[in-house]
Amino acid sequence: MEDWRQEVLLKFSSNPQDYWTVDDAIKGTSILGGTGSGKTSGSGKAIALQFLKKGWGGLVLCAKTDEADLWWDYCKKTNREHDIIHFSKDATHDSGKHEGKTIIFNPLDYEMTREGEGAKEVFNITNIFMNLYKMGNRITNESSEGGSDNRFWDTALKRLLNKTIELIIIANEELTYKNMIAIVTSSPTESKPFSEQNMRNAIRLVYQQNFEDELLSKNYFLKCLALAYVNIEEEEQGSSLFTTYDSIYKYFTESLPGITGQTHTTIVESFMGLAEPFLSGLLEKHFSGKTTLKPEEAFTDNKIILLDFPVKEHLEAGIMAQSIFKLIFQQAVERRKTDEHPTPVFIWADEAQYFLNPYDQIFLTTARSSRAATVFLSQNLSNYMAAMGAKSNTDSQVHSFMGNLATKIFHANSDAVTNDYASNLIGSTIGFNSTRGSSRSLFSMNIQSNKSMQTTYLPQVQPMEFTLFKSGGLQNNFDVEGIVFSTGKRWSTGTNHMKVIFEQNFEDENN
Ligand SMILES: Nc1ncnc2c1ncn2[C@@H]1O[C@H](COP(=O)(O)OP(=O)(O)OP(=O)(O)O)[C@@H](O)[C@H]1O
Ligand SMILES: [Mg+2]
Repeated sequence: MEDWRQEVLLKFSSNPQDYWTVDDAIKGTSILGGTGSGKTSGSGKAIALQFLKKGWGGLVLCAKTDEADLWWDYCKKTNREHDIIHFSKDATHDSGKHEGKTIIFNPLDYEMTREGEGAKEVFNITNIFMNLYKMGNRITNESSEGGSDNRFWDTALKRLLNKTIELIIIANEELTYKNMIAIVTSSPTESKPFSEQNMRNAIRLVYQQNFEDELLSKNYFLKCLALAYVNIEEEEQGSSLFTTYDSIYKYFTESLPGITGQTHTTIVESFMGLAEPFLSGLLEKHFSGKTTLKPEEAFTDNKIILLDFPVKEHLEAGIMAQSIFKLIFQQAVERRKTDEHPTPVFIWADEAQYFLNPYDQIFLTTARSSRAATVFLSQNLSNYMAAMGAKSNTDSQVHSFMGNLATKIFHANSDAVTNDYASNLIGSTIGFNSTRGSSRSLFSMNIQSNKSMQTTYLPQVQPMEFTLFKSGGLQNNFDVEGIVFSTGKRWSTGTNHMKVIFEQNFEDENN
């Protein structure tokens, strides 16, 4: 294995078998523990400081209002302050080529202008919206997974997004949220059917460059359709652009208006629910317009991007903003050429349940080769189950998600679901139960005593043990206890797990 993978980040004992290496880190980490169990100030802090000391860049999602301060503090300690990009409400760039300008990340603009594979791909842009849609459903507690009914709405929305984006691109118009909305709201409906005569007139006006005419200025859909027609007229029949145009035409003039009543309204409303938030407030100011912050900076310049839009303050917009950035960050990391930019990057998510998206699974399975160290912190498994719409902790989704985070640290917890999961994961060991008994038959004076040994399987760690772990603070001498489990790892103790103590080290925090 290459040397850099073997670099040691943490030593859980002086025995090299108990070292936690870069290779472990890029296989993903889950930290679970109840409120105040020491996730942040114990294991979290120990790991975060190591990533920073190694000079890695990364992305920090901020669910809580004090997360960004915490990272400023970590960066001061490790001399990384100059690498911070603090992306928060009203933030501007304090250096670089965009110095003084508002920090903006517009996923549409980014996808249309970035370099590399899959740029400008309609499919990718649609998927970003579909991920947002699924996140949104989660926030409102509507299940977005499974069910033929849900699949119908998913497919219908996906088609509308696809066709809208394709039309804008072929028309050579700017792909903006506003233009997307303008297309959908001006496209034909059952009560406002498509008129071929209007289309002929629109094409004539486009040829005359007469965009002031009411027919074009008041109907953005017709304008785009006419522009697209004129743009591809030179193309050969049967070329791929031609086929695309044809399917857009049929979709907006026949299929979509053919869907009537409540169904039509629901499809259009779902679309508006995704695009409209970008026309005002936080998303308008920092997530639309010209992009001035690229996720790539985390590995091209080893920047630490603090995505400081706390959920409590910004609510749904905060979750949407951070989730979309996280998704595109993950995809950028996957495209990265590790021979040019070999340094690992990290993704840090405390209260990770807010930011889970369906892409995490895909990302986590390949994170090791893209050298991305993901750390997800949350109180309990039930948080993740709720976010995934899982019914129980035996749900395969939860298992596969947790399975993709190789290192699992369990701190003090009173959540039975999590404690059972941890105990089960660590597994059983063979134990011996001796039973001693005596019996006397009713009319006999003779007492028979017996002793028998039974082999039984006993959990190596009982679920209730997790309720008793030290959780830092003065009363625990600032010790935070946790059990570390790492898939496929045998510790120096000969077991598959290790009980460790993380010191909160508050002295060093006070100076
Ligand atoms: N700077 C500090 N000085 C003294 N005690 C602290 C300090 N920071 C945290 N603690 C205490 O240590 C314990 C663990 O706190 P920590 O914030 O690490 O828990 P957590 O698991 O991250 O909780 P949460 O789920 O609420 O984020 C708590 O009892 C907390 O009050
Ligand atoms: Mg915490």
